Amino acid sequence: MSLERQIKKFKNAEKKLLFTTPSHAQGNFIPEKSKNMLGEKVFECDFSEIEGFDNLRKPEGILNDLLAEFSEIYSSKRTFILTNGSSSGLIAAMLAVLKDNDKVIVARNCHVSVTNGLVLTGAVPVWILPEFDPQWGIFKGITADSVKNALNSHPDAKAVILTSPTYEGLFSELEEISKLTKNAQIPLIVDEAHGALLPFGDFCSKPAIYCGADVSVQSLHKTAGALTPAALLHVGYESLISAENIQNALNLINTTSPSYPLMLSVEQTVKFLASSEGFEAVSALQNEIKRLSGLLPAGYEVYSGFNDPAKILFRINGKNAYEIAEILNNKCAIEEEFTNGQSLLFITGIGTDNFRLRKLFEVLSEIRGVSSVQENEFSFDFSLPKCAIRPRDAFFAQKSLIPAKNAIGKVAAQALLHYPPGIPVLVPGELVNPLASKLFDEIECVL
Ligand SMILES: Cc1ncc(COP(=O)(O)O)c(C=O)c1O
Repeated sequence: MSLERQIKKFKNAEKKLLFTTPSHAQGNFIPEKSKNMLGEKVFECDFSEIEGFDNLRKPEGILNDLLAEFSEIYSSKRTFILTNGSSSGLIAAMLAVLKDNDKVIVARNCHVSVTNGLVLTGAVPVWILPEFDPQWGIFKGITADSVKNALNSHPDAKAVILTSPTYEGLFSELEEISKLTKNAQIPLIVDEAHGALLPFGDFCSKPAIYCGADVSVQSLHKTAGALTPAALLHVGYESLISAENIQNALNLINTTSPSYPLMLSVEQTVKFLASSEGFEAVSALQNEIKRLSGLLPAGYEVYSGFNDPAKILFRINGKNAYEIAEILNNKCAIEEEFTNGQSLLFITGIGTDNFRLRKLFEVLSEIRGVSSVQENEFSFDFSLPKCAIRPRDAFFAQKSLIPAKNAIGKVAAQALLHYPPGIPVLVPGELVNPLASKLFDEIECVL
C-alpha cells in the first residue's frame, strides 16, 4: 500500500484517537494564522511512527515497500528518503566512508555540507580546483584528468567527492571518473542535488549512479517539485559503500521524527516523475527552453554545452549582469537564482510552465541600456589557500572573531563561502588570504 493510501485509510476508516506525538492531535490544535496559511490538511497528515506507518530509521513495512519501489525506479541497490535535504545525505555518505585523518579528494566547488562533513569525520581534504570560465563567471565540471592526477599524487585517498551537475548545471566527466575510482577501489560520492530530473529525461549526462558512482544525492525540492527540503540518496548496484553503513550514518545525524507530509510529497513527486506524464513534462520543459533560447537576439545568450538545459544561465555578451538583475527585479518583477558579474542563473523545474518561460525570455530579449563590464571588474583569484590544520581541529580550536583586514595569515576557524560562484573561499584550517579579507568584514580565526 502507498503512503498516500495508508494516510487516507487512517483518516477515513480507522479514526483512532491518537495519544502520541505530534501534540496537535491530528489537527485538533492549529493556530488560526497557521490554518489560514497552511490549511488543515497538512496537520491531518502529520503523524509519528504510529501503527501501520513504519519507521524510517529501520523501515520494515510501508516505508520499506516505498523504498523498494524507488530502487526499481532509480535502478539503485537501495534508495533512501532524506527529510533533511541533500546536505544530510552528503554528510551521511562521508560518515559511512571516512575516518579520522583519512584523505579524501574533493572538488573545491563543493557545497558547505561537504566542508561540514570534513569537520564531523576528521578527514583531510585534497582539493581539486575546477577550471574557471571567465566569460560566464562560473566553475566548469571536473575532468577525469584532474581526478587522475589527484589519485596519482594521493594513492592513499579513501574517497572522491564531486558535484555534478554544479549549481549552474555543468556536468563532470563521471563515466571516466568512476572508472578511475573503481580502479583505485575507492568510492565516488556525487552531489547531484541539482540533478533530480536526470533519470526522467534525455540529458547529455546520465544520472551519477548509472555512470558508476557509488552514492549520489538528489534534492527533490530543487528542480523536481517536492516540498523543501525533500531529497533522496541512491546507493549504486556495485557500490563499495554498503546500504547498512549509509542507514547507520543517517540514523546518527537525522531526526527520529521524520515528517510524514514531507515523505508523502516525496512519494507523490517520484511517482509523477516516473509516469509517462512526468517524462513528458521534463522533455517539454527542455524543448521549450531550447526553442526560446534559439530566438534570443544576437549577443543575448543561454549557456549550452555539457550541461543541464533546465538551468538557464544567461548573459548579454560583455554586459554587466548585476545591472540586468537590477532591471529584472525592480522593473520586471522577476527574481533570478543568482547573478555574477557576467551571467545570471534562472532555475527552472517541473513547476515552470510555458507561460513563465515565455514571460522570462520576452523580458530578457527586451533588456537594453546595460553598461559593459570593464576589464577585470569582477575577476577574483580563487586559487587554493594554504592549509595549516585539519578542518576538524580548526573548528574545535579556541577562536575569536577578528576584523578581516587583521586576519591575513591567521588560521580560519569557519567556512567562508562566496555566492556566486558558490565556492568556499576558505574552509576551517586554511590561512586567511587577501581574497577572503576583501570579501568579508570579520573572520573567525583560531587563537
Ligand atoms: C550543489 C549543492 N549541493 C548540495 C546542496 C544541499 O542541498 P539541500 O538544500 O537539499 O540540503 C545544495 C543546496 O543549495 C547545493 O547547491
